[in-house]
This record gives sequence, C-alpha cells and structure tokens, in this order.
Amino acid sequence: MARCFVTRALPGAALQRLADAHDVDEWPEPGPPPRAELLDRASEADGLLALLTDRVDRELFDDCPSLRAVSNYAVGTDNVDLALATERGIPVGHTPDVLTETTADLAFALMLAAARRVVEADASVRRGEWPVWQPGGFLGHDLNGAVLGIVGLGRIGGAVARRAAGFAMEVIHTGRPDGAPLDELLRRADFVSLHIPLTNETRGLVGEPELQLMQDSAYLINTARGEVVRTDELTRALEQGQIAGAGLDVTDPEPLPADHPLLGLTNVVITPHIGSASERARAAMADMAVDNLLAALAGERMPHCANPDVYLTRRAP
Ligand code: DGY
Repeated sequence: MARCFVTRALPGAALQRLADAHDVDEWPEPGPPPRAELLDRASEADGLLALLTDRVDRELFDDCPSLRAVSNYAVGTDNVDLALATERGIPVGHTPDVLTETTADLAFALMLAAARRVVEADASVRRGEWPVWQPGGFLGHDLNGAVLGIVGLGRIGGAVARRAAGFAMEVIHTGRPDGAPLDELLRRADFVSLHIPLTNETRGLVGEPELQLMQDSAYLINTARGEVVRTDELTRALEQGQIAGAGLDVTDPEPLPADHPLLGLTNVVITPHIGSASERARAAMADMAVDNLLAALAGERMPHCANPDVYLTRRAP
C-alpha cells in the first residue's frame, strides 16, 4: 500500500478507488494547500495527485524523496517541471480528451457573450434598465460568416474549428502543415481564439505588437493560460478600443485582484477558469487522474502520461 497526497477533493467516486488501494491523505479545504502544507504533506508520499494551482517544482521533488508518481488533474502541465520529473524517473499524468469538447463549448460561449454583449445586456436588465426596443440598442458583431483565427490547432483548437462550421465561419489557424503565420492570422481574424499550452515559447505571445495587428472590430478569446497574453497590454488595447473586446477564461494573475482595471471594462467577459467545468468532464478528469496514479503505483505505464520519455530512461520499477 502506497502513501498518496491528494491536494483537493474531486467530484465523483474516483478518489474512493484510490483510497481502496492506498493510504490517501486528502487536503480538506476547498482552496489549494498553502505551499508549506503541500511540501509537508507530500514529503513522505509515494504518489501525488495535484491540481494546476499546485507548483510541482524542484523544491517539491527535493523535499519528497519517496515520490514515484505525479498525477495532474488537468490536461495542461505548466505547473509541473516536466523535464526534472523525467530526469528523476517520475511519470506525470494528465487528463487529455475528456475536457476537449467542454472547453471548446466555453470558448464559443465567450465568443458569443463578448460579441453579442450578453453579460452587459443582462447586467443592464438586472439594474432595472431595460431600454425600450430600439434599432441601435446593444449592437454587437455576428459570428456567422466571420473569420475565426485559431492559434494552436490541437485537440481543443480542433473542437473549436468543428463548432465554427455550424456558424459558417471561415477558419484559419496556425497549425501545420497548411497554417497561416501568426501575423497574418491576427490581421485577418474577426475572432482570435488561443489554444496553445503555456511554455517558455508561448509565454507573453500576445502583447501590444500582436494586438495592434488585430482589427478594431476583432475579439480575443483565451481559454488556454493567462500568461500567454500580456495582461497590461491587453487592458490598454481594450481601454483604447484597439480591439472590440475579449472573452477570457484565464488571466494573469489568476485570480484577478478585485481592483484590477480589466474588471471595470464592459467590453471584456471574464470567467474564473471554468473551461472544463461540466459535471461530466470534471468527473471524467477525476477518473483519469486516479487511473494514472493507480497504474504508476502498480509499476505500470500511466495510460495518459505527459512525459512519456520517462519510460525510456527510467529504471525498472
Ligand atoms: C486544464 O485541464 O489544463 C484546464 O485548464 C483545467 O481543466
């Protein structure tokens, strides 16, 4: 029986399967464990089930000498030092596929909400301001027939492209082999939707120069990672009407402080990193995360491993 630290309660019954097989310490609070608690409670663990809010870095690996497996409850693994995990022979699990359609739905929800001013109009009604129907009230932009620029045509980007067909959108993308250069995509797209992982190459990818290339009627949608966009530069572009609006499920920092200037703007719709937040997707993520951990602790290959090279270099369990 191995020792596991699980950094948050997960939806569904998946954790029970882990607890049936191993000794599980589950962080009881709704928020993430403070850093010192994470290091302390993981220090003797063989397996760690972490969330994207937990930094799994050199300090943690050094402090947790028994650690044999990390299972991340997310498809993104930018919170984990994957290279170091590989070097230390530790497989890192993640949760691809099961959240793809759910996240693509949210990207579309943000596109529609931003372009059709859904949140602004709803807020107006709730304030008791329901303007008598008028030709110029709450005018937005159509998705139908618009050009959608997908930055990163992977699993989620592909699912967004499939939805776009139903809106008769023209899809352009940066993917290989027939993708457009980013500059061209930014110039042409009415909606730019980001679907790239956060890496050293993509951090800060969209800032002032890129926003300047976009049309003043265009929208930026981010359901990837907040750090891909330079927040201050986006805020300025939205304030100055350099682009029409934005739909953001992720921000930098996250959460945004209550007095952040973005929160004062009506041309941005912001959701608190809920791309995968459907009952079905989150339960499936929990199953996948537990399956990854159970497999690794049994000395088997993780079914969904983010650093498969670990199996090339790893000593036999
Ligand atoms: C992920 O999985 O990486 C999302 O950001 C959260 O579901």
